[in-house]
Amino acid sequence: MKPQPAHVAIIMDGNGRWAKKHLLSVASGHRKGVETLREIIRFSSDNGIKVLTLFAFSTENWSRSKEEVSALMQLILEYFKSEIDELHKNNVIIRIIGDIDGLPKLQRETVLSAMQKTASNTGMYLNIALNYGGRGEILSAAKKLCKLYKDDKISLDDINEDNFQDLLYTKGQPPVDLLIRTSGEMRISNFLLYQCAYAEFIFNPVLWPDYTVEEYKKDLKAYMDRDRRFGGRTQ
Ligand code: FPP
Repeated sequence: MKPQPAHVAIIMDGNGRWAKKHLLSVASGHRKGVETLREIIRFSSDNGIKVLTLFAFSTENWSRSKEEVSALMQLILEYFKSEIDELHKNNVIIRIIGDIDGLPKLQRETVLSAMQKTASNTGMYLNIALNYGGRGEILSAAKKLCKLYKDDKISLDDINEDNFQDLLYTKGQPPVDLLIRTSGEMRISNFLLYQCAYAEFIFNPVLWPDYTVEEYKKDLKAYMDRDRRFGGRTQ
């Protein structure tokens, strides 16, 4: 058996379809999705996953109905209020990846304070992608690099993959080993485009609110059974 992934990223898809199937509002689907998220975070942190990145809200999600966007924003507030103490107790380091400045004031303050509170913890990194887009992240890293070059802080010859990665939100973290997307959709949807260069992908058909720790264990095992070659050849 090969080692378990250091960095797992999850696209928590299917909340809307779950709600429709149960004749509930889409907000209830997301609310049920938060219960799954809680279980998966707890299991990951208890079982030695080093980095868990969850896609909670993309830069494209603002185009959803006003009701759905405000339900998601409300859930984010509730989540941090109710979970922060336990996450902190479990030594989790919270990092929000995405454009925090573009979040409403209350959400911005809440997530900034969660990051601050857990910054000196030493356990699992929990990256929550909020107002996140992969192209935007790469573009903003490129702009920062141009500025460093313009200010004579870096020369062209010194630019390499290591220092480019330091300009991404995931600075200091390993690349994604395993990307899981639930609900059967098979797309990356602008998530961690740079960090997923050699990630293994698992598309699990279960809708996110129905996804369980048992399913997660199966996906982790399927990952460990795979042969990763990173462009090389196995002997
Ligand atoms: C995709 O399902 C899911 C989202 C766009 C949001 C995911 C957010 C949460 C699980 C909760 C909020 C997060 C935190 C950190 C509290 P979808 O609605 O696109 O599903 P569909 O494709 O079936 O419509």
